[in-house]
Amino acid sequence: MTTPRTSAPHIAPEILEFYGETINEADRLTTSADGVLEMVRTQELLRRYLPDAPAGVLDVGGGPGVHAQWLVKDGYTVHLVDPVPRHIAQAAKTGATVELGDARALMAADDSYDVVLVLGPLYHLLDREDRLQALREAARVVRPGGLVAAAAIGRYASLFEHTATTWLGTKEGVRAAVADILSNGVHEPGRKGFTAAYFHTGDQLAREMAEAGLTGATVYGIEGPTWGALKATEQHTGELLAESPLFTAALEAARLAEPYPDLLAASSHMLAIAQA
Ligand SMILES: C[S@@+](CC[C@H](N)C(=O)[O-])C[C@H]1O[C@@H](n2cnc3c(N)ncnc32)[C@H](O)[C@@H]1O
Repeated sequence: MTTPRTSAPHIAPEILEFYGETINEADRLTTSADGVLEMVRTQELLRRYLPDAPAGVLDVGGGPGVHAQWLVKDGYTVHLVDPVPRHIAQAAKTGATVELGDARALMAADDSYDVVLVLGPLYHLLDREDRLQALREAARVVRPGGLVAAAAIGRYASLFEHTATTWLGTKEGVRAAVADILSNGVHEPGRKGFTAAYFHTGDQLAREMAEAGLTGATVYGIEGPTWGALKATEQHTGELLAESPLFTAALEAARLAEPYPDLLAASSHMLAIAQA
């Protein structure tokens, strides 16, 4: 096993500003139907694999603690690491212990957690070597036989999102930013209301997990193939559709799509789950 790095890695200032000032990440999974879909599906996928409580969970890039909160309620002992001071202050209220830190240089000892969640850091690590380092760190601190779950944003998510917002047709800057994401996976900060981000294909996520020593990962579409229809309808009715028949249908579509890898491409986020 590798030893943790001692010097703190650099977090891009635009990422700190985005989460510290521009948006409130604490609201993201409750204020839109596709956000609620992400939450419900992440929970159901994780609960399928989590060991019985109590067990130790390290929530890396845990943000304001939306997942830490239900994990604590389910009886898990959760420690959350995030580089954004505002998130750490919010997460401290969930019952988890918290620490300001970086996925690429965890302070945790080797083999010290039953479960390591990496639900967010891969979104914002644009260099492949940085993403591999974050996954290697997860592999280092999880106990043998433990669980590592890592989330990624889907390569085609922006295409669907900005069809729903209609900006693909009305804002040339958004169309150009989406075209670049489709071709190389990279979103440069400041181009379309999001911060510096990386958009994975399913194969790429599986390969990065394997390269970091996490073998046998299964990659799931979190929201499934019809979240874009849900988002478009919500945008154009102005109503929160989290309890609508369309939401229920989109949730069922996500479940039905699981065995069909071609449909991964249509999901907004993907979740890779591996046994260490
Ligand atoms: C979209 S939020 C996800 C929050 C939460 N885990 C969830 O799934 O809802 C992405 C998170 O990754 C965190 N993050 C960004 N770069 C990181 C890094 N290098 N190490 C750890 N966390 C990072 C951000 O601060 C933010 O909290």
